[in-house]
Amino acid sequence: MNEQGATPVPPTTAPWWRSAVIYQVYIRSFADGDGDGVGDIAGIRSRLPYLKSLGVDALWINPWYKSPQADHGYDVADYREIDPLFGTVAEAEQFIEEAHAHGIRIVPDIVPNHSSDQHAWFRAALAAGPGSPERERYIFRPGRGPDGSLPPNDWDSRFGGPAWTRVADGEWYLHLFAPQQPDLDWQHPDVHAEFEAVLRFWFERGVDGFRIDVAHGLVKDPELPDLAGLTDGGVHPFWDRDQVHDIYRAWRRLADEYPGDRSFVAEAWTDTPERLASYVRSDGLHTAFNFDFLMTDWDAKDLRAVIDDTLAMLGTVGAPATWVMSNHDVMRHASRYGRRAAKKWVANESYVPAGPADLALGTRRARAAALLTLALPGGAYVYQGEELGLPEVEDLPESVLQDPVWERSGHTDRGRDGCRVPIPWSGETAPYGFSPADATAAPWLPQPADWAPYTVAAQTGDETSMLELYRAALRVRRDHPALGDGTLTWLDDAPEGVLAFRREPGFVCVVNLSTEPYPLPEHTSVLLAGEPVENGRLAPDQAAWLAL
Ligand code: GLC
Repeated sequence: MNEQGATPVPPTTAPWWRSAVIYQVYIRSFADGDGDGVGDIAGIRSRLPYLKSLGVDALWINPWYKSPQADHGYDVADYREIDPLFGTVAEAEQFIEEAHAHGIRIVPDIVPNHSSDQHAWFRAALAAGPGSPERERYIFRPGRGPDGSLPPNDWDSRFGGPAWTRVADGEWYLHLFAPQQPDLDWQHPDVHAEFEAVLRFWFERGVDGFRIDVAHGLVKDPELPDLAGLTDGGVHPFWDRDQVHDIYRAWRRLADEYPGDRSFVAEAWTDTPERLASYVRSDGLHTAFNFDFLMTDWDAKDLRAVIDDTLAMLGTVGAPATWVMSNHDVMRHASRYGRRAAKKWVANESYVPAGPADLALGTRRARAAALLTLALPGGAYVYQGEELGLPEVEDLPESVLQDPVWERSGHTDRGRDGCRVPIPWSGETAPYGFSPADATAAPWLPQPADWAPYTVAAQTGDETSMLELYRAALRVRRDHPALGDGTLTWLDDAPEGVLAFRREPGFVCVVNLSTEPYPLPEHTSVLLAGEPVENGRLAPDQAAWLAL
């Protein structure tokens, strides 16, 4: 046996974010209140009782700000307005209040790496021309070549194609994502001041924290060197540069001025858990998504390694881990766990699946994985629909694809629409209760014809359903003193292919990733299992929670 995690079990007064289960609401696909085929704040408000009964602690809401929606809200035109598609600021305030009344915290997204090209600052920069102070808030440069017709350097956009676009007067501007998402220049004091003011604007309206989009990308090497010159182990010119932490130290001080443990979670795709740990210090951000865990295939050895590395590295800075399997940017895990990756999935690259998914297998594993993640020390994220066992929709017709990745990649990458299909709530046919009965438009992405068994209504009360498994797991997690923040101890007598760990007081989680049934270790009762345990043996790809 070995003891994991350097921090002692904190007192029960530990802040909420050390052990929270945070449910991700991809707003345009969660629930459509006004019948235009796009989810909105009214829809979330109407589903607060569902979220309450599911048992989550907080909601992360994908960007709801005013936006031309070129990247579904990640292109923000006004950080102090709610997009009319989703509602109004007054409605957001009301929603935050109602969520709080349900005991649910609200964590919106903030997008500081880039704005929309329709943001007042960018429009002013275009109008003011080369050399103007307005252009200094973004990253404008002359082109290369005798007539400046070549981009200033060799950087590619994360969505495909060059990271530079040329404007009418001949200058180029940087966009690590779509051309409609110009990168802000974080060397400029206005940018710091503006985002601090925006954080305050929403903190004053009661939000409990922020999810920081592309937190690892804000600071660029001022020389903007070609990537071609990057040596192995060298410092990347735009990902995960040490200077980003100066920004977050200031944000932490700001958040600490407000009562109620406001907190940040970083979207930071780093190469190693060591680098991730640099984001989450007592004078930096509170938590960060654990993408190393998300990027790991269903394999006992690999999962154990990533769990150990995570807990060890975050333990050195006293930060809690987070456990994440899915989000709006990656293939849903019920589909991923039913196959393997064709090549090792690494940060800032897309997942490449090897062959088609075995969905029955992926779903069994997703049940086991839910029990694994909810038993590990720290907090956990649940991406809307994973509690329903939704698979990736891999056969959306090309004509409906909307993710900018599809066009930018020259139709080689279908993009992320397959994990963003609107949620099925009830009924036998689309829109499955996603939109009201008198809706004027169909859901913005078509839902599969065979989704009736996945609806909330169909699964409610069915003890074998994914939804009831999540409800039960969240109930046990809430009540059991061993779960949430803390440490774990591996049961090292478990055979290869079985992950078994103990948490105090008196709790064991066993996950069988082998191909043989596994006789459960001694216990007084089975608190919960992915499927009924027969003759004390745990079937392959199943998990159980035991009381000692
Ligand atoms: C983040 C978001 C993603 C978005 C990108 C650009 O990775 O999660 O959805 O496209 O940032 O803002």
